[in-house]
Amino acid sequence: MRRPIVAGNWKMHGSREENARLVAGLVDGIGHGGAEVIVFPPAVYVAEVVRLAAGSAVAVGGQNLCTEAVGAYTGETSGAMLRDVGASHVLVGHSERRTLYGESEATVAVKFVAAQAAGLVPVLCVGESLEEREAGVTETVVARQLDAVVALAGLGAFVQALVAYEPVWAIGTGRTASPDQAQAVHAFIRGYFSAGDATLGDQLRVLYGGSVKASNAAELFGMADVDGALVGGASLKADEFLRICDAAHSVGGRG
Ligand code: PGA
Repeated sequence: MRRPIVAGNWKMHGSREENARLVAGLVDGIGHGGAEVIVFPPAVYVAEVVRLAAGSAVAVGGQNLCTEAVGAYTGETSGAMLRDVGASHVLVGHSERRTLYGESEATVAVKFVAAQAAGLVPVLCVGESLEEREAGVTETVVARQLDAVVALAGLGAFVQALVAYEPVWAIGTGRTASPDQAQAVHAFIRGYFSAGDATLGDQLRVLYGGSVKASNAAELFGMADVDGALVGGASLKADEFLRICDAAHSVGGRG
């Protein structure tokens, strides 16, 4: 049974005041059971958001981590530090990290391994650009992104991981993938893992990300291989995000 999951990627948004208001709204509105809910604040706020969400059903993760565990890496945050302040998850390979900060597939793979070594659940983000989709190479690109991590971490590592399919052209653009477009790639990703390990493929949770909002969440969650969402902009408003969580609740677990 795959429990639905809704994750909020706050990106570089928020302040102590705004975070307190947002988390209070989430904690108030969220029930226990139903979808698993995780928020990803900027690193500097992770510890405080963990405290604000304590005792609620809202888990907290980091948006990024260092490839290294400790040492002379000015400006970086290790997985162990995120874990130390109460984070349970971390995004790895978000397209903004790949494109704006030059993270290569090899770097993403090292970060995935570093996350697990620190006791965090990595949320591996994959997805094609618009040019790649138009060139018909979406599956090739996604497979290559997965291959890089599987080669280093092994297929079995994905028992303790989540995958987010985020077509780059749908992120922050208001142009979401259609449910059928999302489903096709999600089925491809599940098939990729099933080919190596049927149980793993069956149990792996694959989130969709890219302009998810309350008004389109239910139809995306209605697709057989969409197990939840990684939500950016719409995760910054408690009401909107809670409505997305409700849509995931009502779809329920599957698999
Ligand atoms: P968006 O961002 O929902 O604002 O498109 C999604 C993401 O980048 O994770």
